Amino acid sequence: MAHTWSRSTLPLLGAPMAGPGTPELAAAISNAGGFGMLPAGYQPVDTLAAAIERARSLTDHGFGVNVFVPSPQDEARDAFAIARYAEQLAPVARSLDAAVPAPRWDDTDSFDAKIDLLEEQRIPLVSFVFGLPPVEVVERLHAVGTQVMATVTDADEALAAVRGHADLLCVQGAQAGGHRGTHGVQTIPNDRGWQQLLGEVRSVTGVPLVVAGGIMTATDVRLALELGAVAVQCGTAFLLTDEAGTSAAYRAGLTDDALDELVVTRAFSGRPARGLRNDFVDRFDTVAPAVFPIVDQLTKPLRAAATKQSDHQLINLWAGTGWRRARTGPAADVVAELTAGVAPAGG
Ligand SMILES: Cc1cc2nc3c(=O)[nH]c(=O)nc-3n(C[C@H](O)[C@H](O)[C@H](O)COP(=O)(O)O)c2cc1C
Repeated sequence: MAHTWSRSTLPLLGAPMAGPGTPELAAAISNAGGFGMLPAGYQPVDTLAAAIERARSLTDHGFGVNVFVPSPQDEARDAFAIARYAEQLAPVARSLDAAVPAPRWDDTDSFDAKIDLLEEQRIPLVSFVFGLPPVEVVERLHAVGTQVMATVTDADEALAAVRGHADLLCVQGAQAGGHRGTHGVQTIPNDRGWQQLLGEVRSVTGVPLVVAGGIMTATDVRLALELGAVAVQCGTAFLLTDEAGTSAAYRAGLTDDALDELVVTRAFSGRPARGLRNDFVDRFDTVAPAVFPIVDQLTKPLRAAATKQSDHQLINLWAGTGWRRARTGPAADVVAELTAGVAPAGG
């Protein structure tokens, strides 16, 4: 099967990063010979449409879009835990002059409208995370020439993805910064790195595999390709670049020497995500319920207020295991460093 990145394109995808991911970053990665990915998560469909238009104005090369698969909600089961978490968050929100909003249980992250848009826009690669899209959605995207990539974190999810007609898989290891793409919200993610998962997934499926998690150097990239991946997907490596939308508070957190421990926590969103341990994690990690995206809704205003007030102790500082190696400067330089001595995809 042909890959969406052409033969002259480097085997490097810029991870879609809800928050720091901008059209400027995706376009810069594509212009440098990689393949940029725009995040669609948490955005209204109009904002996504504008981001696609902007990225198109910045690059003639292809880029992809990443969509969150809505997590099923069970209000009857979870309303009490959410109300309790909202009460626990309230004093922190007040201290920042923010409020904890009422939960919106019908939040599907505009999934259907986003699929309509992506179908219309004929995006070369659409990736999904947090579960699998309905086969009918995959087929609609295939019909307009889009390749579909599913994010998986173990062999069972990989098998289900291929049965669901995914063309390729993003095998996300435990090293990854940000949310683990584990399909079930309640599932406790495994702690296996992409190196191990690659072998497990390859034993159950023959589709092309992209690997992600802690990939920060050309040596890591070459190892991934030697082990049989068709490409890597890197996020943390781009967080401090000029084109990333990483806020000043987030940048300060990533470069604060006093923050030296990574944790996997549900405290910010309800789903397990890897980031730097700070005061918010210490306070809420053990009490946050596993309810996504409702917990994200509850914490969003206080995180926005903390960002404005440059308080990196109260925001999510997503980071992969290689965060200390993240560098500043143009994203093109990071692409060049990561792919030094690496042959073009398919070449
Ligand atoms: C700040 C941040 C935001 C992320 N947002 C998304 C997202 O919106 N969708 C997605 O599929 N993955 C997301 N990820 C995970 C990446 O796709 C990828 O798995 C991860 O960045 C790889 O690990 P690394 O950060 O060590 O390179 C995010 C990662 C980070 C660091």
